[in-house]
Amino acid sequence: MSQASVPADVPSMGRRQFMNLILGGSAAVTSLAALYPVAAYFVPPSKGGAGGGVAAKDALGKDIIASAFLANHQAGDRELAQGLKGDPTYIVVTDTKEIESYGLNAVCTHLGCVVPWNAAENKFICPCHGSQYNNEGKVVRGPAPLSLALAHATVDDDIVQFSTWTETDFRTNDAPWWS
Ligand code: FES
Repeated sequence: MSQASVPADVPSMGRRQFMNLILGGSAAVTSLAALYPVAAYFVPPSKGGAGGGVAAKDALGKDIIASAFLANHQAGDRELAQGLKGDPTYIVVTDTKEIESYGLNAVCTHLGCVVPWNAAENKFICPCHGSQYNNEGKVVRGPAPLSLALAHATVDDDIVQFSTWTETDFRTNDAPWWS
């Protein structure tokens, strides 16, 4: 009858082990969550190119395949993709139907609207306050104070990649204002 003297609220061995497992598991998940940013800092991005680029993504978040992209675009097209830090960035198709060596960050340097490409005008024209940028993203009319930011665009393994542009801005011969 000694078993009958065990209070009903003391968990059985099996239940205690189960609860320890749950509590231990939550502690492990919490620790991993806390350590993830530290670990991520030391791990290179999965699709890093030689220059530390990131894959340009389409509207569905898929890597943009250069050959397929060029098959569906004309010389002179400017097409929005997801670029560095998730910024909307134009991929430019050259006159010889290749991927241009730079991409253009579509965020207006005035107050941050996304600037559409106007093929008829051969310019980017901001719908918010009328700023205009030429076909290379150089500001030609305010109130935007600066040209659109540049990114390097390369093709690696048939995937379009963007990487940070740290060199002189070829449109203004100034140091890049965005880095
Ligand atoms: Fe583009 Fe103001 S946000 S002109």
